[in-house]
Amino acid sequence: MSIDDLLTRPWFYRFELPDGRVTPSYIDASVEPVHSTRVAMMDRALREHFGTAMPASAIDIACHQAWFSTQLTARGVDRVIGLEPRDEHVRDARAITAAMGLSDRIRIEQIDVHAATAERFGRHPLVLCFGLIYHLENPIGALRVARALTAPGGMCLVETQVVPGMRGFVDWGNHRFVRPLKGSFGIIDETEETHGPEASTMGICLAPDTEALIWIMQRIGFSDVTLIEPPADGYEQHVHGKRVMVKGLVR
Ligand SMILES: C[S@@+](CC[C@H](N)C(=O)[O-])C[C@H]1O[C@@H](n2cnc3c(N)ncnc32)[C@H](O)[C@@H]1O
Repeated sequence: MSIDDLLTRPWFYRFELPDGRVTPSYIDASVEPVHSTRVAMMDRALREHFGTAMPASAIDIACHQAWFSTQLTARGVDRVIGLEPRDEHVRDARAITAAMGLSDRIRIEQIDVHAATAERFGRHPLVLCFGLIYHLENPIGALRVARALTAPGGMCLVETQVVPGMRGFVDWGNHRFVRPLKGSFGIIDETEETHGPEASTMGICLAPDTEALIWIMQRIGFSDVTLIEPPADGYEQHVHGKRVMVKGLVR
């Protein structure tokens, strides 16, 4: 595919090509800051954890057209593996990274997150899991995969839509055995949208609340689990805590 071909249709992201031209995007202008805000939050987390020495490698889970992978190489990450199950995104990610001269630094692998293993892809000092877990019926399984792919000393960033949570206590089989809720999941129906480029591949989605996400990340082996602050002028969903980015470290 020639660079001119790539520019004839809209993309999910605005990629800057080597000749300075930028791919048109199909997302509404009011939604576009969702990308720039997440980059700003990622930069904040990268600075805090790695300082100026960027990690040698990273994994970008659910990489879509690999825009975040290209953001990482632009910041000095030497090699990125992008994981993505959808045919069209794998094709596009490979085409755009080739057009950007990044084929030797960004490798795109077609795979469902649940099938990804450290044995196959290695453990990396940086793992991104952006815009994914709220599309899954097994978000905890996906977080376990993200944990398994994070090397000791490394950092995983999870970015997700969150739902309003429920608090309180549950009689766990009997009124004498009372358990506190550690968080909640909301069930979202994407069963009619599984063809959608940004949607779930399965259709039944469990979206966590912020407390659930933090508690689960701690329980599955991340340490120092903390929310990344959005920029004050960022995308409204992040500024108002409807989407969050959470950092988890592996010791
Ligand atoms: C909302 S998009 C987010 C893309 C990108 N990570 C971002 O944050 O801009 C959701 C992505 O998750 C992918 N996806 C959906 N179900 C998946 C699964 N079971 N395993 C891996 N990726 C999946 C979709 O194909 C799509 O690329």
